[in-house]
Amino acid sequence: MLLRDKVCIVTGAASLRGIGYATAELFALHGARVVVADLAMNEKVVADIRTSIDRRISRPADLHGVRCDIGSFDDCRALFESAVARFGRVDCLVNCAAVVKSQPFLAISETDYDFVVDVNLKGAFNLAKAAVEHFVANKGGNIVNVASVAAQRGGGLVGGAHYAASKGGVISLTKSIAREHGPQGVRANAICPSMTETGMLDGMTEERFQEIVSAIPLRRAGKPRDVAGACLFLASDLSAYITGATIDVNGGSHIH
Ligand SMILES: NC(=O)c1ccc[n+]([C@@H]2O[C@H](COP(=O)([O-])OP(=O)(O)OC[C@H]3O[C@@H](n4cnc5c(N)ncnc54)[C@H](O)[C@@H]3O)[C@@H](O)[C@H]2O)c1
Repeated sequence: MLLRDKVCIVTGAASLRGIGYATAELFALHGARVVVADLAMNEKVVADIRTSIDRRISRPADLHGVRCDIGSFDDCRALFESAVARFGRVDCLVNCAAVVKSQPFLAISETDYDFVVDVNLKGAFNLAKAAVEHFVANKGGNIVNVASVAAQRGGGLVGGAHYAASKGGVISLTKSIAREHGPQGVRANAICPSMTETGMLDGMTEERFQEIVSAIPLRRAGKPRDVAGACLFLASDLSAYITGATIDVNGGSHIH
């Protein structure tokens, strides 16, 4: 049990096929009290998540669901307040929430750009600010931001330049928080997944999928649990001396 009694917020957790859900499930398996947050969170989604996690861990999970638009700072602060009201404190934030748009550079309108960057980068900023306020008062805490290989390799396989830029911003934001707030016991790290089998790949043809897989050294796409495993490592004390790092979860598809 790597997270026994730790209170962890996981955003972007509404889809049972997603990285956020897989992370919430693995954290619950490791004894965490988990707050699942998403723009799409509602009573039915929370009930479905609860059923699925309880079945997986063979006991009732200590779970709390909150609807949150990470593009709104008020929502992010309210998310932390709700988590504290339920569990007394927050130890860790894992930010998986994001949007993706597949567009050539010249087709990206100002509206497209604002939509992607407002959720992915401003959202990460809003969450991190609410988290750091809480963590500084509590003398410590841990942030894990899910970025993307798109930020490292010059564009995504799925997302356009606005997506890649937003994720590059997330990595930079994470490093800045690690440097500025390390002295107050706050750790911040980023994860860069490559193509992972979630709803984000819906719409990709099987031919294109196989073409990408054939160029990956480990010869398969990522699974949500692959990314969840890296989140668990970074959320736990196994990584107590790691901050400001970017961990690749990419099957060797981008070695640098
Ligand atoms: N799947 C991939 O191939 C891949 C690759 C690299 C990085 N990633 C990253 O992994 C993370 C998880 O993505 P996923 O693949 O599980 O996809 P996903 O679509 O299942 O998860 C994203 C979640 O974010 C939520 N969301 C969107 N806008 C929001 C907002 N304004 N406020 C709160 N929640 C919001 C969505 O409702 C959704 O549940 C994302 O950050 C994504 O960019 C995914």
